[in-house]
Amino acid sequence: MKNSSRRIFLKKTFSAGIGTAIASSFPSIVKASSVSNQPAIIGGLPMADKVKFVKWPIWIPETDEKRVLESLRSGVWSRAALVTEFEQEWSKTLGVKRSLTVVNGTNALIVALNQLDIRGGDEVLVTPYTFVATIQAILANQAIPVFVDVDPTTFQMDPKKMEEKITPHTKAIMPVHILGLPADMDSIMAIAQKHKLLVLEDACQAPLAEVGGKKVGTIGNAGCFSFQNSKNIAIGEGGAIVSNDDAFMDRCYSYHNLGLPYGTAAGTIGAGSFMQASKVRFSEYQAAIGLAQLKRLEAQTITRNSNAEYLSSLIKKIPGITPYRLYDNVTRAAFHLFPFTYHKEQFKGLSRAAFLKSIQAEGIPASGGYTPLNTQPFIQEAFASKNFQKIYGRKALDYQKYMKANACPLNDVMCTEAVWFTQNVLLGSKSDMDSIAVTIENICTNAENIKKTIDK
Ligand SMILES: Cc1ncc(COP(=O)(O)O)c(C=O)c1O
Repeated sequence: MKNSSRRIFLKKTFSAGIGTAIASSFPSIVKASSVSNQPAIIGGLPMADKVKFVKWPIWIPETDEKRVLESLRSGVWSRAALVTEFEQEWSKTLGVKRSLTVVNGTNALIVALNQLDIRGGDEVLVTPYTFVATIQAILANQAIPVFVDVDPTTFQMDPKKMEEKITPHTKAIMPVHILGLPADMDSIMAIAQKHKLLVLEDACQAPLAEVGGKKVGTIGNAGCFSFQNSKNIAIGEGGAIVSNDDAFMDRCYSYHNLGLPYGTAAGTIGAGSFMQASKVRFSEYQAAIGLAQLKRLEAQTITRNSNAEYLSSLIKKIPGITPYRLYDNVTRAAFHLFPFTYHKEQFKGLSRAAFLKSIQAEGIPASGGYTPLNTQPFIQEAFASKNFQKIYGRKALDYQKYMKANACPLNDVMCTEAVWFTQNVLLGSKSDMDSIAVTIENICTNAENIKKTIDK
């Protein structure tokens, strides 16, 4: 069947729901949009036929390649001047005293926790709604992650649930500015101060986000960033630790370089390594890529914020869609992802999986996001290890008891309702956002038909 006749056929077949309840709440967008009002999953033309998303990562040979090629041709590939330059630029961008690059965000977290002296016997308060690396970094230092349930409206660890989790073993709080949405740092810092806890911010997804005008990652004792390929600064792999604490940063530097002396970190130059450490250094060509990406970050962040706010204002009118909420103290978000929650009841019971399938059929890069981390097997495996058993003793590490104490029921539900769009979606135009909103609206209007088609 030709496209045009196929469309007429589908229009006849599925016209019942079109332009009814939802359309009336949103007339201007419906009129302005050029997208098909027939969802692609039931035969309409995909939105991606009209709207082309920015391909990520962005690479502009004319402006980006010169220093990368110079670095490659120089033969100086290990850490040298370009890495130092990138670190200085990164510190300047964030308004923080020091920055140290490492191989990735995971190792930034491992090194920072290690040099904050968070080790065996310590507990760290953390969100269950994060990338697994946050929790792996705690376990890598033989500390115990203690999960604090989320506020599903913000996708963030809820500070109101934090104090009840503090024990004499609690040493630190790890706020994660997940999806690029800042955690409630005012409340978290107040709790940390009251209980004399350290704060390590996992800002891997949130470069340039701010709370109270301060960049996230620079508010606690230290912050960590990731430059992995999907991130808002994409280098392939890469990470950084930032802090205003010189002594801490000197020790991190030594740690990332096999424990060799650096700055005020103890040891005599020439006498060799003075601390147990690792080697997780960044490379020159990575820094050259990072310097090119960094030039675009501010403008991209402005675009993402503006489009996120606009898209959110549109889709919140669709029954069953609840966009993210930012805390009042957030002065800027970073939007590594664009999140909302999906309530199937208002979509005629269309499951989230079917909704996602429908969105993906339109060519919109969407996913359901994280699954709960507090119940995944890696924690049990760590607890069962000889190392953990030696530190904590078998009785102290009762996994079933731990599971009960670390249940996060709100997060469990949120993980079944969340929907994310990747950040490149937000680099388009306002009319792209209109098209996305109309596409979701059309899925809502046609939910019944989609359900029948998928269930067939
Ligand atoms: C919240 C969070 N923490 C840590 C990491 C780890 O970063 P990387 O992938 O660079 O190791 C990531 C990135 O993937 C992340 O999203």
